[in-house]
Amino acid sequence: METAGESHGEALIALLSGVPAGVPVDLEFVNRELWRRQQGFGRGGRMKIETDKAHVLSGVRHGKTIGSPIAIEIVNRDWKNWEEKLPVETGDPSRHQPVESPRPGHADLPGALKYNFPDARYVLERASARESTSRVAAGAFAKLLLRHLGIEVASHVIRVGRVEMNRPAAWEEIVAVTRKDEVLLSCVDAETEARMREEVAECARTGDTVGGVFEVVVHGLPAGVGTYANWDERLDGLLAWAVMSLQAVKAVEIGRGVTAAESFGSAVHDAIHYADQPSERPTRFVRDRNNAGGIEGGISNGENVVVRGYLKPISTLRKPLASVRFDTREATAASYERSDICVVPAAGVAAEAMVAFVIAQQVLAKFGGDSALELKRNYESYLEQIRQY
Ligand SMILES: Cc1cc2nc3c(=O)[nH]c(=O)nc-3n(C[C@H](O)[C@H](O)[C@H](O)COP(=O)(O)O)c2cc1C
Repeated sequence: METAGESHGEALIALLSGVPAGVPVDLEFVNRELWRRQQGFGRGGRMKIETDKAHVLSGVRHGKTIGSPIAIEIVNRDWKNWEEKLPVETGDPSRHQPVESPRPGHADLPGALKYNFPDARYVLERASARESTSRVAAGAFAKLLLRHLGIEVASHVIRVGRVEMNRPAAWEEIVAVTRKDEVLLSCVDAETEARMREEVAECARTGDTVGGVFEVVVHGLPAGVGTYANWDERLDGLLAWAVMSLQAVKAVEIGRGVTAAESFGSAVHDAIHYADQPSERPTRFVRDRNNAGGIEGGISNGENVVVRGYLKPISTLRKPLASVRFDTREATAASYERSDICVVPAAGVAAEAMVAFVIAQQVLAKFGGDSALELKRNYESYLEQIRQY
C-alpha cells in the first residue's frame, strides 16, 4: 500500500497492489469507512468542510476487483481555499501561509531541520493525520477481501484521557458500535461514554487536548496465520509496526500485554481445552479467556486477535505551549491552526484499516491465489485440514 497527498493539497491518493481478481467491491462500504474516520466527539472544524468520498481510478470494473493495482483518489474539498496558499508552481509568495513557530509534539521542528525548510508548512502538510484517510480507503479493500473469507475487523474505545472502560466488550457490542449512525466516543458502555464526553468537554473549555486507547479486534481468523520462523514474519510484530505507524500512536499492546508484565504466569496464559461439540470454528481446541490476544509465538491461535493502540494527547493546543520563531529565533507561542481535541475513535478506524491490511497481506501470503475463487478454495481446504487435525 502506498499513499500520497498533502493535508491541504488537491487530493489524497492510495495505491494498493496484490488484491486478487473477483473480490466484490461495495463502494458504499468504502465511503462509510471514510465517513467513520471523520467522526467523533471532539473533532475540529474540518469534518464539516469535507465528507470524504473514494474516487476509484483503476483496478475495479463492474463492481469487482480485476487483479490490477487499485488507485483511489480522495479529493480535498478545501483545496479551493488553499490553491494560492499552497500552489504547485511558485505562485505569489505574499499569499503563502508559513507555519512560523514549530508546535511541540508535531514533526514541525525535526521536519524543518531535516528537510531544510524555512518554516513548518510542508512538514505539517504531510505529517498530518489527514494521510490516514488514504490508509482507510485502502484498508476498506483489505476488509472487503477478508470479509469474502468470513474474517471481520472492528474497533472500539476503551480510554479517553482519565476515563477508562473497566469491563470486557463482547464482539457483538463492538460491531454494534461500528454500525452507529452517530459516532460520539465509540465506547460500548453508555455510562462510561458519557464520562468520556465530559473529559473532552472539559478540554474544549480549557483549551487542552486528550489522548486515549482504542482496541481493534479481528474476528474469525483461523489459527496458523503468521509465523515464528523469522523475526520479520511474526504477526504480533507486523501488527505492532502497522498500528504504531499511525499518527499519535505511542504504544501498541497485543492482548493483555501491559498487565501481563506485572502478573504471574498462571493468571496470564490461556489454558487449552478440547470442546465436546464442534462449533462454527474450524478446530475444537478452545480457550476460556484470551489474554494472549489471539497470537502465540507470532502465529494466530484461532481466538480473536486483539490489538490496542495508545494515543498521546493531540499536540496542537488552543492555549499553545512555548516555542520559538523560525525567522527571528524570538520566543513566542506555538502556531495554532484549526485542530481536533480528541481523535481516539477516528484513530481506531484508521487502525482497523492497518490491521486489516496486515492480516490481508498475511492471508494472501499463506493461501495465495490470483482470483477470489482460487483464494477461497485454498482457504477452505486449509480450514478442512485443521478441522481434521
Ligand atoms: C485521526 C487523527 C486525527 C488527528 N488530528 C489532529 C489534529 O487535528 N491536530 C493535531 O495537532 N494532531 C492531530 N493528530 C495527531 C498528529 O497527526 C500527530 O500527533 C503528529 O503528526 C505527530 O506525530 P506523532 O504523534 O506520531 O509523533 C491526529 C491523529 C489522528 C490519528
